[in-house]
Amino acid sequence: MSEYLGMSYTGIVIAERVNTLLKVPKVLKQENKMELGINATEEQIKIISEEVEQKMLSVKRDGMERLVRIIKKYGYFESPSSTKHHSAYKGGLVIHCYKIEQLFRQLLDKFGIIDFPEESIIICCYFHDFCKVKQYIETENGFKTNPNNKKGHALLSLERLKQCITLTEDEELIIKYHMGMYGTHEFGYVKEYSIRELGRAFNNRIAKLFYFCDDMSSQFLEK
Ligand SMILES: [Fe+2]
Repeated sequence: MSEYLGMSYTGIVIAERVNTLLKVPKVLKQENKMELGINATEEQIKIISEEVEQKMLSVKRDGMERLVRIIKKYGYFESPSSTKHHSAYKGGLVIHCYKIEQLFRQLLDKFGIIDFPEESIIICCYFHDFCKVKQYIETENGFKTNPNNKKGHALLSLERLKQCITLTEDEELIIKYHMGMYGTHEFGYVKEYSIRELGRAFNNRIAKLFYFCDDMSSQFLEK
């Protein structure tokens, strides 16, 4: 298992790369356990947010500048990524996306997938969770879900995105199914598609890879 497609090694490299970028201490190893989930500091979030905004603006697609203005206005760069599961702190959303980007790029490269467009990498990594903008309210005890925000997850991200830019078929598929089994009717959380639909969607191997990156980042690279 540890040697499966070299994933274990890749995981260490990615974790160290992410931690270097975030300027945090080297990965700790104790009896083969790694402590990878380290929250970013305010300064790191500021630097990474500026970098991410430039990446977004590098996408030359009609509506992108408007999209960036909108997400900034509604607090994308200040949003947590969840109430408690992962990156549940101010700025956690952009850090979650940033870590996914590192992981996604490394795995695309490792598996020899060189024809996936740069613009699509940026759009999928940084806008798959557009639904989380304005989704959380800060309280004395951390963040809670905003009851006034529109319900939905991937489909809400797509709805919001498509109000600003046109997506490619791959981008739409990847974003729609990025929650994997957690988005199915059967799982019972956001109920946005059936397990059968998911199985069909995952014939697109980049969609499957993106789901793994989102899930792995949440579970192993964040806390
Ligand atoms: Fe995500």
